[in-house]
Amino acid sequence: TYEKTWLAVAMVLIVGFIATVTYGAVGPGIAMIDDDGGSIDPDTINDDERFSETGVTHVGGNEYEANIVAQAWSYSPSEITVPANSEVTFYVTSRDVTHSFTVVGTNINTMVVPGEVSQMTAEFDEPGEYGILCNEYCGEYHHTMEGKLNVV
Ligand code: CUA
Repeated sequence: TYEKTWLAVAMVLIVGFIATVTYGAVGPGIAMIDDDGGSIDPDTINDDERFSETGVTHVGGNEYEANIVAQAWSYSPSEITVPANSEVTFYVTSRDVTHSFTVVGTNINTMVVPGEVSQMTAEFDEPGEYGILCNEYCGEYHHTMEGKLNVV
């Protein structure tokens, strides 16, 4: 009957919709956990062991740590590279005003507030190149605040 046909069509649409939403939430090979990285005094960022040397550190196995400081109008470091099939925990803080740390094409998108450490863990399965940008208005050169993430 027509009713059964329409029911089947509706089911297909619902399953398709759920699949789309799930895929959109996870992104291309990227799963993430958002955490609170705690607080930090913006004046003593350089004394914190996570930020005294910014950049990527191999923690063990497939685990990496990326320590990044945002400051008007750049990220330190501006370019980071991690291997494919890695799990990366990002620790990001700000030296001055509120910025964001947004990796374009992924669901990594966090506010970066002075005095706080934003912490996220993401898995990168496939090699790729991602733009990093600030989508929180942070002053005159906000639009130039960008970086790059390489998965190799
Ligand atoms: Cu930093 Cu906008």
